[in-house]
Amino acid sequence: MAMISWTVRLETRHPQIDEQHKALIQAFNDLHQAMKQGKGKDEVGRTLTFLTDYTKTHFRMEEDLMARSGYPGSPRHREAHAEFAAKATDLADQHRQGRSVITLPVMTFIETWLVDHIQGEDVRLAQFLNGKA
Ligand SMILES: [Fe+2]
Ligand SMILES: [Fe+2]
Repeated sequence: MAMISWTVRLETRHPQIDEQHKALIQAFNDLHQAMKQGKGKDEVGRTLTFLTDYTKTHFRMEEDLMARSGYPGSPRHREAHAEFAAKATDLADQHRQGRSVITLPVMTFIETWLVDHIQGEDVRLAQFLNGKA
């Protein structure tokens, strides 16, 4: 599994969303680097906590845009966010308790989720917002 490169395939064409997605992917790549280089628990924990916190900040921003614009796809999109945020929080908690949860399969799960979510739910949201602008 490789790190995620920012390419046009990840663009939603909504500037604020794209800017945060770039930061989110950077956070994912930082965690990936820490894991791959066999950095200690603290460095992995630090990058994992940052990714988890930033993910929640980003989800709140999108949910705010949904609420303000009356986006009809909001319930399903919010549910997807809640599910992933719970999973990320659980991973961070387990890591804090000393379990080695940041494995390749887990990183692949996160990578797949992020890319699929951006290309699906987030692109649909951005299209709706851009259509309204
Ligand atoms: Fe989203
Ligand atoms: Fe997003």
